[in-house]
Amino acid sequence: MPEQIDLFSASGVEATPPPKDFDPDKIPTSASVPIPPGTYESLAPLADHCKSCQRCELAETRTNVVVSRGNPKAPIMVIGEGPGQQEDEQGLPFVGRSGQLLEKILGSVRLDTEKDVYICNIVKCRPPGNRNPLAGEINACRPYILEQIRLVDPKIILLTGATSVKGIIPSEKRGITKIRGTWIEWEGRQCMPILHPAYLLRNPSRDPGKPKWLMWQDIQAVRAKLDEIRAEAEVQ
Ligand code: URA
Repeated sequence: MPEQIDLFSASGVEATPPPKDFDPDKIPTSASVPIPPGTYESLAPLADHCKSCQRCELAETRTNVVVSRGNPKAPIMVIGEGPGQQEDEQGLPFVGRSGQLLEKILGSVRLDTEKDVYICNIVKCRPPGNRNPLAGEINACRPYILEQIRLVDPKIILLTGATSVKGIIPSEKRGITKIRGTWIEWEGRQCMPILHPAYLLRNPSRDPGKPKWLMWQDIQAVRAKLDEIRAEAEVQ
């Protein structure tokens, strides 16, 4: 299959050779089908696979698959945990109360979700009753998000909450309150764990040291990092 081999070697990432009997059409049918880096040439076929995906049992209870919103060429990617009720109904991530707060947080440092940010989730289907996604569900969905990261190619990734950190950097064992606001280099990208907006909604105090105040520090650091990356790119 020469075209397929070309596709994998052109991916620009460490390409794992696909198994001999690899059939990309089978990806949505089972989590046992691998999604090697470089499988998708663009986000459109990835979204098509997601929309018909049956790789885990969340497919049985979802209304819509939630793939992404925002700019697919954005320098910043925000990765949430999983869709809630509103997201499941609308098929878009972060459109409920957490999403409105996320927009405000980003807007406070002049970041625009249509321009500067691409938003998605660790799992693309709503866990029933908004429970945390299970390890099997995260693992079944993970190759899709790794492909989204490769294709969007963000310089900065914001991991909202513990599940998001676990989904992207499984080796990270420190708790979210320890690592929030710190930069973690992962696969050549600058990742920052931040508190989940839903947690801020439950803890509305703006007093120093409280979650909202911490978020304000963290988002200013994100803005500064973006400005720094842009300034470096201009010099080169
Ligand atoms: N919370 C998340 O983590 N993601 C969403 O899309 C909405 C709420």
